[in-house]
Amino acid sequence: MKVNILTLFPDAYVPMGESIMGRAQKKEIASVNVVNIRSYAEDPHFADDIVYGGGAGMVMKVEPIMAALKANGWQKGAKVIVTTPAGRPFHQREAERLTGEEELFIIAGHYEGIDQRVVDLTGAEEFSIGDYVLTGGELPSMVITDSVVRLLDGVLGDSASLEQESFNEGLLEYPQYTRPRVFEGEAVPDVLFCGNHKVIEAWRREQSLRRTSLNRPDLLKKVPLSDEERQLYAEERAAAVERVDVYIALVHYPVLDPKGNVIATSVTNLDIHDIARLSRTYNVKGYYIVQPGEEQKELTKQLLNYWTSGHGSKINPDRREALSLVSVVDTLDDVVSRIEEIQGEAPLKVATTAKIRRDIVSYEELKEIMIRENHSCLLVFGTGYGLTDELMEEMNYVLKPIVGRGDYNHLSVRSAVSIILDRLLGE
Ligand SMILES: C[S@@+](CC[C@H](N)C(=O)[O-])C[C@H]1O[C@@H](n2cnc3c(N)ncnc32)[C@H](O)[C@@H]1O
Repeated sequence: MKVNILTLFPDAYVPMGESIMGRAQKKEIASVNVVNIRSYAEDPHFADDIVYGGGAGMVMKVEPIMAALKANGWQKGAKVIVTTPAGRPFHQREAERLTGEEELFIIAGHYEGIDQRVVDLTGAEEFSIGDYVLTGGELPSMVITDSVVRLLDGVLGDSASLEQESFNEGLLEYPQYTRPRVFEGEAVPDVLFCGNHKVIEAWRREQSLRRTSLNRPDLLKKVPLSDEERQLYAEERAAAVERVDVYIALVHYPVLDPKGNVIATSVTNLDIHDIARLSRTYNVKGYYIVQPGEEQKELTKQLLNYWTSGHGSKINPDRREALSLVSVVDTLDDVVSRIEEIQGEAPLKVATTAKIRRDIVSYEELKEIMIRENHSCLLVFGTGYGLTDELMEEMNYVLKPIVGRGDYNHLSVRSAVSIILDRLLGE
């Protein structure tokens, strides 16, 4: 296979001569031809130009790219790839498909990218290597070349290693170990020394499932699994979410009134009791009422004392158990400091809102984040007409609003807490 890479920065391609890529070229299984686009520009300093229609930055011009393609043997129909964060995600299956091509032309963009007419004239496939923006297409073009060339027959010494790696069966690879058997007290799992290949294979499959379910649950949805494996996957994820300590804050100040003014609201007995009982039911570690008003605080404390140490605690121990989770504090910062003391680190702060915003996360996304970050999580609920913009700014994430079946959007906060806790922590 011949891979032509068109770039403004040919010196960036040193890694292409190393290791397996270097070997593939020495064995003449693949050749990499790095083409400097500037050599095909009328003036090498003008391979890019301003953006038509206005906007920041420069765009790589169509003429030098087309000239570079043609001068290096491109003809209509030959496979062209444009690297761009706006492209389709580049996956293993794309790498596998491209091994069928005899020649590839990969264009590394730079600045704001390349003139769209290059794509239109060549029928290029646009690929992104991930949801982030790099300064140039040099790394993406090397990533794509590497992922394709290593799959070509004869490139890897042991072709069995291709069969067992990540994505091969839609799953991520199991953990690997080598000598020494014990390092700093960490031992290689005993099962790998049992000598029974079937047992080792079963263990590896289970580890693959476990890893995929934690790191890439999206992949698992596409893989045919046995009922037993599905069960293991569901349990693994439920256990991972359960390991995250969740806290609730109910903010009475600062919140908004219907006109957008910043106000303080009064505590309500219903919210204290119902959210405490919900918290106990869903194993929430603490429920903080944020209320700086002195009289309001006093009232709340009296009520809590009645149920946690007074007469109420004797007549209803279940209620005592739930209300023991409740504390009254002055500010949201106090809540975070208290959690920091308990957990040894600040929690992820997640706001809840009834308003549609751009930067929201879904319940599934928040679960993924909770599992991945393995941090405690503080769910922040507002009273009145919701949390102020300043408080929203302090949050790490904003959770998607609950949407009913019409445009009436005035759930009580305790109802919202119920629904959200069940979506996040329920079975
Ligand atoms: C700064 S980026 C251009 C970003 C472009 N204006 C946008 O917002 O989509 C410059 C070049 O880097 C390369 N690039 C950056 N991130 C990439 C990614 N995630 N996948 C593939 N190519 C990428 C592309 O070749 C792109 O033309």
